Amino acid sequence: MGFLSVPFFKNLSFLSKPAPKKIFLSKDELSKIKEIHLGEDFILVKKGQRYFVFSRRCPHLGCNLNYDPEKEWIVCPCHKSKFTLTGEYIEGPAKRDLKPLPFELNERGLSLEIS
Ligand code: FES
Repeated sequence: MGFLSVPFFKNLSFLSKPAPKKIFLSKDELSKIKEIHLGEDFILVKKGQRYFVFSRRCPHLGCNLNYDPEKEWIVCPCHKSKFTLTGEYIEGPAKRDLKPLPFELNERGLSLEIS
């Protein structure tokens, strides 16, 4: 029986979650960010000495969020949900705030994990 179960369980690897993606922005990279940085999977907002980091996925159906520099809003191109730069919901079908991502800031830079 053992010889049958090993290949069977090897093929179930698609059920496991992918490893979290680790991102690091050096202090030099952070200093070049004026107010907002759109990463592939995250949005980083710099307000004075404070940082806000959010998933770039819209809380409605997961489209990639963008930045509207005229309005200074975070906007979803799919169904037009809008959020403040600190992640509060303004309007649209998302009906909730952006998901904050935990991050660590130290003298070397900012690191976060996206799962
Ligand atoms: S996916 Fe963003 S508003 Fe629908």
